[in-house]
Amino acid sequence: MSYKAMCLALLLASAAVALASQDPELQQCKHQCHADDKQVRQCEDRCEEYHRHDNDRSPIQKLRECNKDCERRHQEQQQERQREDCQRRCQERYEKETQSYEGRGRHGRDSHQQKQTNNPYVFEDRHFFTGMQTQHGRLRILQQFTERSDLLRGIENYRIAVLEAQPQTFIVPSHLDAEILVFVARGRGAVNMVREERREGFNIKEGDIFRIHAGTTAYLVNRDNNERLVLVKLIQPVNTPGQFQEFYGAGGQNPESYFKAFSDEILEAAFNVDGERVKRLFGQQRQGAIIKASSEQIRSMSQHQEGGIWPFGGESKGTHNIYDKRPIYNNNYGQYYEVDSSQFRQLRDLDIAISFSNISQGAMTAPFYNSKANKIAVVVEGEGYFEMACPHLSQSRSQSQSQRQSRRGEEEEEEEEEYSYRPRGETTTSYKTVRSRLRTGTVVVVPAGHPFVAVASNNQNLQIVSFKVNADNNEQFTLAGKRNVMNQLEREAKELAFGVPAREVEEVFRSQEEEFFFEGPGRRADA
Ligand SMILES: *[C@@H]1O[C@H](CO)[C@@H](O)[C@H](O)[C@H]1NC(C)=O
Repeated sequence: MSYKAMCLALLLASAAVALASQDPELQQCKHQCHADDKQVRQCEDRCEEYHRHDNDRSPIQKLRECNKDCERRHQEQQQERQREDCQRRCQERYEKETQSYEGRGRHGRDSHQQKQTNNPYVFEDRHFFTGMQTQHGRLRILQQFTERSDLLRGIENYRIAVLEAQPQTFIVPSHLDAEILVFVARGRGAVNMVREERREGFNIKEGDIFRIHAGTTAYLVNRDNNERLVLVKLIQPVNTPGQFQEFYGAGGQNPESYFKAFSDEILEAAFNVDGERVKRLFGQQRQGAIIKASSEQIRSMSQHQEGGIWPFGGESKGTHNIYDKRPIYNNNYGQYYEVDSSQFRQLRDLDIAISFSNISQGAMTAPFYNSKANKIAVVVEGEGYFEMACPHLSQSRSQSQSQRQSRRGEEEEEEEEEYSYRPRGETTTSYKTVRSRLRTGTVVVVPAGHPFVAVASNNQNLQIVSFKVNADNNEQFTLAGKRNVMNQLEREAKELAFGVPAREVEEVFRSQEEEFFFEGPGRRADA
């Protein structure tokens, strides 16, 4: 029995215990040594060695083995339930490990925080602050991209915000000094936009995209009785790059009305009424910007056509549902939808496209990159992780060589502690793996040209909405699967570039027969 095979056998034997307690594999392994008294010492040494090796194996390798073991142990048809339970435990263990794995570094497990600051592409809950909040909902705003890193200067003038409103609520009228593009991530609502002599409203539902032009006063209702309304907003300020403000006219103390900034004599003269009545009007509202409404009020404010007609200009629709068009990619492993300015005129002057990926549980996207668009991706549902190749965060050459020699699993690349900016004049580009968990609410920036892949957990679909900034004439290039860039190289180019016979290159790049969505690494039976 080879050493590796023994390791694996011992691991499998102890997998059940492994889930329950600390380092049980090691204990189990040593325990089994006593059955073979003669060479106890030697055996124990091998256990120790194996244990060290096990620590070097990547979480994903362990996940695969664990999943395979579940299949082996619960092969029968009627054991499907147990098999699923078993695989769920594998997944949980994997997730726990990847969390601590990411946090592992020179300073031990506590370096998680530090790591995050060194990976400027991923934003979690704590990178949002609360723009406004009442008991009926809140607006969360993501920190400015450039606060995080200069590498994100290209999207400096974009902000992300997420609005959540409880069922049967009213979001009071306001305008922003910014263009707003909204994706309805969840729920059903109605939006109204007003100008001097006109008001246009339309109902909105999951998957809808709509735009609120800068300065347009808009208000919303959540017209559902049970479900929250969740809107993901891309905000493009028009005054100060990267900064915007909300302006409430109709209001009082809270939200404070901008009318209150004017002096009494100005307001009296402007409205042509006496000062007391002005004071009373702007002194009443104290409930905040998201408030409860009665069902009659909601019903009366929701009497719009689905989609509606675009208010100010007439010829195009007010909303576009991203699921309406056939997906660009669609197979058992996922669907990919995209809307650009050719399908939705509202996007025309914004240079933005919106895409939506629905990655099936246990599946992954192809590695791909965008030719010129910077992608701001927001997870709207599910869990998983991503990997991205990043030349900006690579290590210096000598460091990366020594690390490459020492490493056994590619995951060690994610010791993000060691990120450093590549010194100028460095001739050999080396790439850092940027990797992080994805869960509902995570925001990831994928710069143009950077190869990226997303993987869904085994339990749930992973759904991601992406705003692509700088989208006009952007192309998305896939790097594996039925159609991929490498397949287009001439035979000679393949041989020269890879330094192996073209046939060998083709064998690798032609083996994956699916397009864009594949079976994920944790699910591959023959991995
Ligand atoms: C997402 O995928 C699931 C199946 O995995 C499917 O039932 C659902 O309709 C899909 N949603 C969209 C919006 O494509």
